[in-house]
Amino acid sequence: MPATIIVGAQWGDEGKGGVTDRLAAEADVVARFAGGDNAGHTVAVGGKVYKLHLVPSGILYDGVTCVLGNGMVINPLNLLQEIDGLVAQGVAVSPDRLLISTRAHIITPAHIALDRAIEKARGEGAIGTTLRGIGPAYLDKTGRSGIRMGLMLDDETFADAVHESVEQANETLAQQGFERLDSRQTAAAYIDAARRLQAYLCETSVYINQRLREGARVLCEGAQGTMLDIDHGDYPFVTSSSPTAGGALTGLGFGPLHVDRVVGVAKCFATRVGSGPMPTELHDELGDRLRGSGEHFWDEFGTTTGRPRRCGWLDGVILRYAAQVSGFTELFLTKLDILSGFDELKIAVAYELDGRRIDHPPSTLHELERVQPVYETFDGWHVDIGGIRHVDDLPDAARVYVRRIGEICDTLVTAVGVGPERDQVIHFA
Ligand code: IMP
Repeated sequence: MPATIIVGAQWGDEGKGGVTDRLAAEADVVARFAGGDNAGHTVAVGGKVYKLHLVPSGILYDGVTCVLGNGMVINPLNLLQEIDGLVAQGVAVSPDRLLISTRAHIITPAHIALDRAIEKARGEGAIGTTLRGIGPAYLDKTGRSGIRMGLMLDDETFADAVHESVEQANETLAQQGFERLDSRQTAAAYIDAARRLQAYLCETSVYINQRLREGARVLCEGAQGTMLDIDHGDYPFVTSSSPTAGGALTGLGFGPLHVDRVVGVAKCFATRVGSGPMPTELHDELGDRLRGSGEHFWDEFGTTTGRPRRCGWLDGVILRYAAQVSGFTELFLTKLDILSGFDELKIAVAYELDGRRIDHPPSTLHELERVQPVYETFDGWHVDIGGIRHVDDLPDAARVYVRRIGEICDTLVTAVGVGPERDQVIHFA
């Protein structure tokens, strides 16, 4: 039986957690393949709200096994805090339900301090990272000096490696005028974490391949989004991993022929946190309206950092590109309900660059910063659609809007979210 990959089609925060949660109902294994606790997924079930950063949303289903794959960078202290929080909310999290790759890399407080220092040094050009140590941890990984989760199985050696890594970072931090970290205290905290996490560690690629052979359905949960991809995003305003479909294969360790479904997830408008180009950004009250006031968990404020998100019209150019990069077999749109009440709506269907019309985002930053969106305008609708469950009951204008999105990226829209609860979905044929 095959694997499904869920990919964010924009700059992250598309609502992938909720989509994973819905698709997990039919999965046996749900696996994260990239990034770390820079991600934040909010899932609402039966009036309860779960905030997840590292643990896949599949944990909310009893029969599902969750995997943290080799492509991830994991802060063990934050992972334990998340596990404890879930257990306190009544979710069963145990080593037979949550498997952590021995090949995943760890994040230490040194990576977090370096993230902060590097961002500060960037000044005006700061990326606006989540300050979770993601970039420095992947830097250690690709520089072949990282520490992998598997080392936790030998806790004394692990503690020594953490101590040494923090000491090395201390040299850099001190040179740049930042405070040194207490490497002994860190090593002590990490050895305690290692002892608790040992039981969760295994060779997850072997496990996933075994389950695929047995006919299990594997759901690969993407974090971040296409435009934050280290290769395909708007570099350097990206994260340090590959959240696109290819990243699922390297980040979990199985072959492409197992995959029969790649679900692109896109919000019905555009949002971005952090710096970098955003051609359809709105700087007026329409943008503020899309963002919401912040009093609801679904308003556009970061789950991880609480930062207000930049909001704008849907960027069809980005969506079309994302569909190609990952080979979407279908599109799941989220938050259509938020667009109720607008007199008119816009979608960017192309860009204009120096008088030329282009239909893909340019690869260089200086060009992407200069593009002007070419918009199509749509009628709005003025009814609350949160209670609608059938496509025929949607206002005509909403149906036209949704169908046009599918045409722009040449991908079938199969489902549209109209609210945060599991059942607030309309299936499109
Ligand atoms: P980093 O991943 O913390 O290094 O941040 C790099 C860029 O990716 C910044 O612009 C962050 O705001 C953005 N980013 C990282 N993770 C997420 C996410 O889960 N949602 C939205 N943006 C993210």
